[in-house]
Amino acid sequence: MNSNGKSMQGFTFVDPERVEQIFSQYPDKKSATLPLLHLAQSQHGYISNSVINTIADLVDCHPAIVMDCVSFYTMLYTKPQGRHIIQVCQTLSCSLNGADSLVDHVMDKYEIKPGETTADDRFTLMKVECLGSCGTAPVVQINKEYHEGLSTQNFDKLLESFE
Ligand code: FES
Repeated sequence: MNSNGKSMQGFTFVDPERVEQIFSQYPDKKSATLPLLHLAQSQHGYISNSVINTIADLVDCHPAIVMDCVSFYTMLYTKPQGRHIIQVCQTLSCSLNGADSLVDHVMDKYEIKPGETTADDRFTLMKVECLGSCGTAPVVQINKEYHEGLSTQNFDKLLESFE
């Protein structure tokens, strides 16, 4: 492995300049682990074993330490995801305001359970903890965008807008 992200282990960063830029922002290599994981996921779609090995090599640590980081953050995915990730908040405000019926709707309509992806890779469904917008419950995050105060009907319309 060289310092610009080239790896002999199956994963290579496509933007070595960005890798260098990330390293330049931190006092030591290990501190760059999380931003490198985000960069890898944006390129690769998820954190595979080869991504973990490449990053461990880059930051000079054991792959288990990188895996510790990956397993701590729910926004890092260890398997391929659908094109659109539906995250339904399950914490108190959302739960009291119908989040369960939104999850049930996705489960019935697309025949997937939380943690699963549709056969056509269109959607992945997740139940998540508080998204920080409790006053507009129930809240669903699809990809990076929040959708608030959803009823089953407008949620259904929203889902149809994603291909
Ligand atoms: S409880 Fe759902 S956003 Fe906080």
